[in-house]
Amino acid sequence: MRTPSSFRAAKRKGEKLATLTAYDSSFAQAAARAGCDSVLVGDSLGMVIQGQRGTTGVTVDDVAYHVRCVAAGAPDLHVMADLPFGSFEAGPAAAFKSAARLVAAGAHMVKVEGGAALARTVGRLVERGVPVCGHVGLLPQSANATGFRVQGKDRESRARILADAKAISDAGAALLVLEMIPAELAAEITAEVAASTIGIGAGASCDGQILVLQDLLGLYPNPPRFAKNFLRGKGDIDAALAAYVADVRAGRFPDAAHTPA
Ligand code: KIV
Repeated sequence: MRTPSSFRAAKRKGEKLATLTAYDSSFAQAAARAGCDSVLVGDSLGMVIQGQRGTTGVTVDDVAYHVRCVAAGAPDLHVMADLPFGSFEAGPAAAFKSAARLVAAGAHMVKVEGGAALARTVGRLVERGVPVCGHVGLLPQSANATGFRVQGKDRESRARILADAKAISDAGAALLVLEMIPAELAAEITAEVAASTIGIGAGASCDGQILVLQDLLGLYPNPPRFAKNFLRGKGDIDAALAAYVADVRAGRFPDAAHTPA
């Protein structure tokens, strides 16, 4: 099973990390069969499982339930879990309390959305033995303020996202999701931070990629432009997941058609 130090070693060796979201036992097993490096029990479950318009209604209880399902199905697979909106912003103590519930449910790492303002919280979690994945760029938990659009297009927001990425990596995050930012900015961040970057709509230079499972299988209506339906033309779900992992590892995904302009 992957660990923070093996993620760092993969970055040093230039090995691409293939990850995707999973919310239940059957798909966790399928991700393990496909050779995924990790699965994320994302708060995207609010949209793809619960049918909400966004992620802000998801609770720690919701995420913990799905972490238990995933961990039971694939006990040897690395599992990340999202700290949902409202469960960590009050500070390190609140974040640790929420993280502890997700770790007790079976998560090996927690993911937090946000930048430099969260660095102290990330540092405290790491000190207390909770590995962290950061998340900068488009933050779905802030979509009420930003909408779901590409971030970092002007000089000011580009500099802010770069500074946020460095702050979270320097605080000890082992992984860092880069969501919907220009590919050149993602490449610059990837070159400058110690954390392994995991792109979603951020181009092919990231150290790894993540997709929402339902987007990968073509199940979600109105998928984002960067998502690719890997099930199309394949015989079954195992073949689709294997094609995704192979394309990420070979640097074939995302191609230009699946990278925001
Ligand atoms: O919740 C989620 O699925 C995520 C991914 C989009 C990275 O945060």
